[in-house]
Amino acid sequence: MPLSLDSLAIHRPQDYASSGPPWAAWDLLREQAPVFWYEREDIEPFWAVTRHADVLTVSDHAEVFINGGPRLRLELKGRAEPMRAGVDTFGASRGWDPDEPPDMVFMDNPRHRRYRRLSSWAYTQGAMRAMGEHFRALAETFTTEYMAALTAASASGDSVDFVHGLACKLPLAAVGEIMGLEPDDWRQILTWSRALVGEVDDSDRLPGESRGRAAYRYMYELRSYIEDLIEDSRAVGATRGGLIDRMVHTPVDGKLLTNQQLNGYILLLIGAGNDTTRNALSGGVEALLQHPEQCARLCADPGLLPLAVEEILRWTSPVASFLRTATRDFDLAGTRIREGDTVGLFYPSANRDERVFPAPYRLDIGRSPNPHLTFGYGAHFCLGTNLARVELAASLAALLPWLGRLELAGEPTRLAQTHVMGYSTLPLRLRAA
Ligand code: HEM
Repeated sequence: MPLSLDSLAIHRPQDYASSGPPWAAWDLLREQAPVFWYEREDIEPFWAVTRHADVLTVSDHAEVFINGGPRLRLELKGRAEPMRAGVDTFGASRGWDPDEPPDMVFMDNPRHRRYRRLSSWAYTQGAMRAMGEHFRALAETFTTEYMAALTAASASGDSVDFVHGLACKLPLAAVGEIMGLEPDDWRQILTWSRALVGEVDDSDRLPGESRGRAAYRYMYELRSYIEDLIEDSRAVGATRGGLIDRMVHTPVDGKLLTNQQLNGYILLLIGAGNDTTRNALSGGVEALLQHPEQCARLCADPGLLPLAVEEILRWTSPVASFLRTATRDFDLAGTRIREGDTVGLFYPSANRDERVFPAPYRLDIGRSPNPHLTFGYGAHFCLGTNLARVELAASLAALLPWLGRLELAGEPTRLAQTHVMGYSTLPLRLRAA
């Protein structure tokens, strides 16, 4: 059946796993109905905003399109927003306030700005410059380990998964180091943070345990772990000066954050930088292997690396969408949005907008300018952009000597998610030298 505005689907997690991002549907929406009232049986209706200019306009009017409304992520009917569910279930045993936002993404100004300041100093360009050398060394180590495993496997015709073998490692280590977490805990944090977005391996389930139950158990364990970090910081005092200590001991609006507020904030900082960056790297490597001429261009001219990072960010666009709530009527590109309506911003679609990007479906590692919206825009613009860029550059630089010999070794498997898009597995093989 040909795709039409009535039949297209952009909201079902399972479709993202089975068919990948809904590029054709987004193309059609941009062309025929860029501000489209999207009504389907299994989701509450919302405006789907798919053009670059309109995503920018909504993001730039944070006072009209707020994050603090009832919906922030696309969820099917009857499915709770995971961050709120976590607060409800874990928080119930701690007497938490059900009306407190789960974290600062759910807040609006002026409160949002004051909360954001508490951690933003740790993610500035200067802070990342200071960590850059260290992250490059870590990337080298992880790549050497992965290549050793790949060399051994390839000798017997086997592949090694890139997602778990390499892509997850630097994001995790970087988050761990910035937050001052113990390296021994990193592996466990990976399992926990994957569970937060609904990814639970069979091997991570107890006998007879359902996936949902295991995800709940992991969320509970992660929240308990964060609770211990906060307790420890309170006991030690502000003397260590790391990010968590600063957050625990710095007042906002004259008051220290409560355990509930800190728990949500630290959970956000642990969770937000992991699967996003991992998927940008996995998708970037897949794209380079599928476009050998671009791969060869990069290998021949590593000076293109900064532009290649931007193009990979545009190309992969790991965050598929965020929702906003309109606080008043607003005219968006000729369409009347009503007060109380939900508005969905589709970043990957904005990043394929032919009005902004010439030949948007061509991977061009030298593309410039490249005003992609992969990190969003405006008040909630991604806090970790500098970190993500440093990590991607370090990871690709370490991979460069190997890229010419890497090849895809089968179909990747994809995440069943409408928030963060990407891969569960990406099997790779090494060609003989
Ligand atoms: C390629 C990797 C990444 C992508 C694609 C990405 C994407 C995004 C997007 C689209 C938003 C929402 C922006 C908006 O509403 O305008 C966001 C917010 C955020 N990101 Fe990232 N992100 C990445 C990496 C990271 C990293 C490494 C961190 C580490 C701390 C991080 C932390 C955050 C936080 C805390 C927010 C919420 C900011 C706020 O509400 O003020 N992200 N990110």
